[in-house]
Amino acid sequence: MNIPFLNLAAQYASLEHELLPVVTQTLAKGHYVLGPNVDAFEKEVAAFTQTRFGIGVNSGSDALTLALRALDIGPGDEVITSPFTYIAPAEAIHQTGARIVFADIHSQTFNINPADVARKLTPKTKAIIPIHLFGQAAPLKELFALTQPRGIHVVEDCAQAIGATHEGKPVGGHGQIGCFSFYPTKNLGANGDGGMVVTDDEALAKKLRMLRVHGIERRYYHDLHGYNSRLDELQAAILRVKLPRLNGWNARRAQIAERYRAGFAGLPVELPITATGNSHVFHVFALLADRRDELQQFLDERGVPTLIYYPQPLHLQKVYADLGYKVGDFPVAESVSKRILPLPMYPELTDEQADYVVSVIRQFAF
Ligand SMILES: Cc1ncc(COP(=O)(O)O)c(C=O)c1O
Repeated sequence: MNIPFLNLAAQYASLEHELLPVVTQTLAKGHYVLGPNVDAFEKEVAAFTQTRFGIGVNSGSDALTLALRALDIGPGDEVITSPFTYIAPAEAIHQTGARIVFADIHSQTFNINPADVARKLTPKTKAIIPIHLFGQAAPLKELFALTQPRGIHVVEDCAQAIGATHEGKPVGGHGQIGCFSFYPTKNLGANGDGGMVVTDDEALAKKLRMLRVHGIERRYYHDLHGYNSRLDELQAAILRVKLPRLNGWNARRAQIAERYRAGFAGLPVELPITATGNSHVFHVFALLADRRDELQQFLDERGVPTLIYYPQPLHLQKVYADLGYKVGDFPVAESVSKRILPLPMYPELTDEQADYVVSVIRQFAF
């Protein structure tokens, strides 16, 4: 059996009959950047995340940058985030001119560890970006216990967790601002780039709307140093078709995760936990194994390609050498990077395919 690591074409095939008419209608209307589909999609995502305002932007990366800018974060400030994630949150901090400060992660959820955040707080800490990694919320309650008394902002990176909840409330509306990505591989993926910022704060929403279009409220009058970060109509129209499917897709991901979990019982691998109070949307299902590289090769030779993320924690990336971090500074992130193995995970994966992945792993001589 050959199992693709990802299969975006399968999702398209299941929706083609709905997507094509929407695409042709949008093309025929002649309105391509911002517009009625973006407006409607912003309202739909706000409702879905139980927030008051949604602001469509060009990508999840831009969502984070604009969020920090809207909160007036800049040179002289420090922003804490995780070293075990995609680089976007760190890039967003850097782009504002603030200093990137990392805090280590928890070994079973891969999310930022509040105990280490507490050690990294200084009077300059202006915000924290918890990343809801792999599909479950970071430990928000413990983080808020640190941030609220100090007036520190929380910008949630929900790129991998749309539809997940924490204490019954969707991710995105817990902090001052929530940031989403609609990159094609995400649980809700566009057919191109796209992102969204959500907030309950009207003044922030207004500022974010200005920032995404060159700092204007009125055309050709620029009040803020802004960006070109508009969401286009075609992506919004496509995402509007997909959003009503998201909960069903996430439920299917959770079923596959259960199947994997049951299948790996008794093996000497560590499986991720879902923290109390969280519902998990399994953007990624990853196990930890000591001889990870050998296991990866074993799977690859048997038709199960896998992809390691993240192989190098951010504090050890060349681009951040000037931050002065070194090997050993974040032992959990470093150990997880060496042992993690994400498995195929998408709603279209069949039970038979999941069982095949399990059977190959069970054949490995641990
Ligand atoms: C955790 C995280 N944050 C931010 C992003 C950035 O999103 P985008 O690719 O839409 O810029 C991604 C993924 O791409 C991500 O995984």
